[in-house]
Amino acid sequence: MNKFKTKSYYILIVSLVLLIVSFAFMNSKEIKSFQNLSDVLKSLGQDYPSHYVENYDSADIQRGYDLIHIGKTNNPPDGFASKAISKFYSCTSCHNVKREDPNLTLVDQDARLEYAIENDLPYLQGSTFWGVVNRESWYNDDYILKYGSLVEKAKGSLTESIQLCAKVCAQGRELEEWEMKSILSYLWTLQMKIEDLEMTESELQKLNELKSSNPDSAIAFLKSHYLTKSPATFADLPESKEKGYPMEGRPDYGKAIYELGCQHCHHAYGESDLVLDNSVFTFKWLKKHMPEDSKKSIYEIIRNGSYSELGHKEYMPNYTLEKMSHQQVEDLRAYIELNLE
Ligand code: HEC
Ligand code: HEC
Repeated sequence: MNKFKTKSYYILIVSLVLLIVSFAFMNSKEIKSFQNLSDVLKSLGQDYPSHYVENYDSADIQRGYDLIHIGKTNNPPDGFASKAISKFYSCTSCHNVKREDPNLTLVDQDARLEYAIENDLPYLQGSTFWGVVNRESWYNDDYILKYGSLVEKAKGSLTESIQLCAKVCAQGRELEEWEMKSILSYLWTLQMKIEDLEMTESELQKLNELKSSNPDSAIAFLKSHYLTKSPATFADLPESKEKGYPMEGRPDYGKAIYELGCQHCHHAYGESDLVLDNSVFTFKWLKKHMPEDSKKSIYEIIRNGSYSELGHKEYMPNYTLEKMSHQQVEDLRAYIELNLE
């Protein structure tokens, strides 16, 4: 064999090996941890949801980012600067855009608060936008019971939920088509991946086995690793506001709730005219009003929120039980009272 021939044999063998390896890789179609949850569900036979956006580019994502974080964008597709969605809030007044729960399979308020402290996240009334495209219903449980027809359409549709929240929660206006596309494009960048479900090696293996033997069970198995909706319970006031809920408050948790929750909006030039700073004057004010039947009582405002009125559209959304436990309300109270000792 001459030199030239040896070389071409060598090239031939190498390319054959490469071909076989890549074919095997493609054919295995094993579920990998870096894959998007929605793509994996699709590969198991569940269609993309109706809010799926087929084609979007970095300009759409940037516009969506602007609309959600700032409330308007300087780069609309038609070149005209857009009008703010709301005069009073941005979406991030009430919603985070990061993961909030260390364990995605249950509601655990203390775990969420500890996670917020570790990651310096606001502690808010609205559910996080992280993974919102992966949920299957919105405005659940007591939101439906209380608001009925207003939220009926929103329950089954993310697009309708966004419209509802832009108009009602944010006291703003209806979104235009390009704005909705931009917002959805951005929200799709916050979708869950398989790795976020933190499955063990053997769980991932089980998922892959089910994928070939029983795709429906594979879907159910996947969904047992995260909540497909944010549950919502409107909670009662304590029987006596003087006594509060029957739990011992933990002031260190209360401090976190005050700083990551209340002060997210109640700061100078914030969403509310009421500034909740760290002065003794403020803590005295909060303590004085605590037992009253008025919105100035932390029990009343946390559990029932306030209403938007003509001439004063700013209102405070209530905290459902899932967003603040009774224990945590007592933690806040303990912190307020500790500052007055
Ligand atoms: C003043 C507070 C506030 C503002 C501002 C606000 N929201 Fe909301 N939003 C809420 C509350 C409270 C809920 C119901 C609780 C929840 O999120 O689970 C909600 C629910 C939602 C939901 C359904 C979440 C779910 O999983 O059930 C979506 C989607 C949503 N909002 C989108 C938006 C968008 C987009 C904007 C900005 C245009 C916005 N919201 C502005 C308070 C607000
Ligand atoms: C998403 C923003 C937001 C968060 C978070 C928030 N508030 Fe509010 N709060 C408001 C708005 C807006 C009002 C309406 C009052 C106004 O400015 O006129 C309000 C009203 C109140 C009032 C009634 C004021 C009055 O004079 O009637 C109290 C008290 C209050 N908030 C306490 C709290 C406490 C305590 C927390 C934390 C547990 C908290 N707020 C968290 C936005 C917020």
